[in-house]
Amino acid sequence: MLNLVIFGAPGSGKGTQSAKLIDEYSLYHISTGEVLRHEIASGSELGKLADSFISKGQLIPDDLMIKILDEILLRHLKDREGVVFDGFPRTIAQAEALKELLAKHGSELHAVIGLEVPEDELVERMIKRGQQTGRADDTPETIKNRLKVYHDQTQPVQEFYRNQGKYIPVNGTGVVDEIFADIMKGIETSTGEKSRKK
Ligand code: AP5
Ligand code: MG
Repeated sequence: MLNLVIFGAPGSGKGTQSAKLIDEYSLYHISTGEVLRHEIASGSELGKLADSFISKGQLIPDDLMIKILDEILLRHLKDREGVVFDGFPRTIAQAEALKELLAKHGSELHAVIGLEVPEDELVERMIKRGQQTGRADDTPETIKNRLKVYHDQTQPVQEFYRNQGKYIPVNGTGVVDEIFADIMKGIETSTGEKSRKK
């Protein structure tokens, strides 16, 4: 198994690089943001609750987010070659829960890839995407709050994994394929895993 976290600020390229990771290493992609947006689109009670946080750029409460992830892993972890966690964990409590959730399945987290992008570029990317796709939380006011929440609540997770020797920093600016080549190098150095592309 190869379990990876793709970590970084809003707009750093987690979704973009996850698409390449799942293809290259035959992994299952879990984007907690996408799971929540899907619930919002379906009009479920969970979606309504999630929307009340996402629209303000705030995090969904830890206990709820951890419960959702637990259910996804129960349904999808069996018979998989591993998972890319995109947008989770975002707090120390979530990072601790992830360790327990994976241990419950006899597994563990192998590496955390941290996409590092300057803040002005993050804002530029999200404003552009907001104009092109209409993603609801890509508005100037909400972007500002998402970045503040990232600094206050999520950045400590980086130190948490650095202390465990699991954090692989990657420059997240430039050409998408070149960033991915750096990610692959980091994975191989840190875990010994090579491409599993058939
Ligand atoms: P989530 O969906 O995870 O959003 P996010 O972290 O804000 O990040 P984004 O999806 O905006 O960016 P990304 O890093 O995936 O980058 P992307 O590849 O899209 O979370 C949304 C909300 O859900 C949260 O605010 C919170 O409310 C809630 N939530 C989610 N998970 C939660 C959790 N665990 N706990 C609590 N609440 C949670 O790229 C961005 C743009 O840049 C794209 O347009 C892309 O095409 C472009 N781009 C990508 N790479 C490059 C490049 N190299 N050069 C130029 N442009 C690029
Ligand atoms: Mg994303």
